[in-house]
Amino acid sequence: MDTRIPVLEKRCLVLGVSGGIAAYKAADLASRLVRAGAALEVVMTPAASEFVRPLTFQALTHRPVATEMFSLLQDREIGHVALGQRAALMIVAPATANTLARLANGLADNLLVTTALACRGPLLLAPAMESGMWHHPATRANLETLVGRGAFVVGPETGRLASGGVGEGRMAEPGTILEAACWVLGRGGPLAGKRVVVTAGGTREPIDPVRFIGNRSSGRMGFALARAARDRGAAVTLIHGPVALEAPYGVDTVAVASAAQMKEAVLEVSDRADVLLMAAAVADYRPRVAAEQKIKKEAEAARLELVRTEDILALVAERRRGGAGPAVVVGFAAETEELLRHAREKLEKKGLDLIVANDVSAPESGFETETNRVAILDPRGGVETLPLLAKREVAEAVLDRLLPLLAPR
Ligand code: CTP
Repeated sequence: MDTRIPVLEKRCLVLGVSGGIAAYKAADLASRLVRAGAALEVVMTPAASEFVRPLTFQALTHRPVATEMFSLLQDREIGHVALGQRAALMIVAPATANTLARLANGLADNLLVTTALACRGPLLLAPAMESGMWHHPATRANLETLVGRGAFVVGPETGRLASGGVGEGRMAEPGTILEAACWVLGRGGPLAGKRVVVTAGGTREPIDPVRFIGNRSSGRMGFALARAARDRGAAVTLIHGPVALEAPYGVDTVAVASAAQMKEAVLEVSDRADVLLMAAAVADYRPRVAAEQKIKKEAEAARLELVRTEDILALVAERRRGGAGPAVVVGFAAETEELLRHAREKLEKKGLDLIVANDVSAPESGFETETNRVAILDPRGGVETLPLLAKREVAEAVLDRLLPLLAPR
């Protein structure tokens, strides 16, 4: 399923592709940007079109791809100037050592650099080159110049290089570059200046060194919330249990395992936060003791004594009563029956500003799915039932509802 990303949707982005082997990955990036809803224009250096044909990008973007500096667009605009002026953001991926040098010096002898010079929006660079070139003082100096001028840099990563060696210089993955673009474009959004803490995933309560009590939460809902808040300009801290998900770019992440660790992490940051979105499935009970050694199967039957964990939202509510804590707190209720009644009880008991009620009895909604069907309840009795949506869309809907709660009273 293609999920539109609001911060990219209908925005004019220019992707400048320069001539390195990573140019083939730029095709994947172009495809992802288009699927996210961006109006994407591609410009290529002559060297890039030795690696990947312009036709590839043309087919992906459904737009002509400019490689030639001395040509006019259909409507006789001067191509690079018009493109640069329209662009909300220019991404250069891959940015080779040569292109970085040209950009740093304003050496406008190809379409990519002339477009960058004409560009009024920010510049996001995804360098890709051999390790030695990346660490060369000339490249370092060029990059410093560009960053000093306000350019953003994503990557490079360490890994296998085209030469066969391993080192720093691999272009960041297309998914990471796309996320970096979201982060750059999101700055100055409606949550700019706000600190948002999101919790995600389930916790693990140790039984012994190899076993734990866990739950089916995948962390997807919380990760989607973190990305959506980032895309609206918030400074986001994502506190998550063990998950199999990529950390969102531009978000501070804190990995925890048990409910007690999650509590510590949340209390540590929530006093300075404006918003707490508590999407984690925190264990309500833990084994009274965690055995130091692996428990052997000696007896026919075994008993596990469980004790209650602390309720993190209850502790946050207590702090809020004392005048500390976040201005807005949103809880989640995962239920298998009597969804709205249970959710309203939790909203009241935990002193929440909103609760997102989630029927986890349906296979397409709740744990380990990409989609969710939720209702959002407020303390004034309001209930809004949303249709089955991608978790990303649910996240957008939740953030839409919390914006008015943050407005100065
Ligand atoms: N929560 C919490 N601390 C806990 C348990 C839950 O802060 N120890 C939070 C969850 O992150 C969620 C909300 O409380 O935002 C509701 O969680 P849920 O487990 O559905 O509710 P409980 O209060 O634990 O009620 P019950 O398990 O009886 O349904």
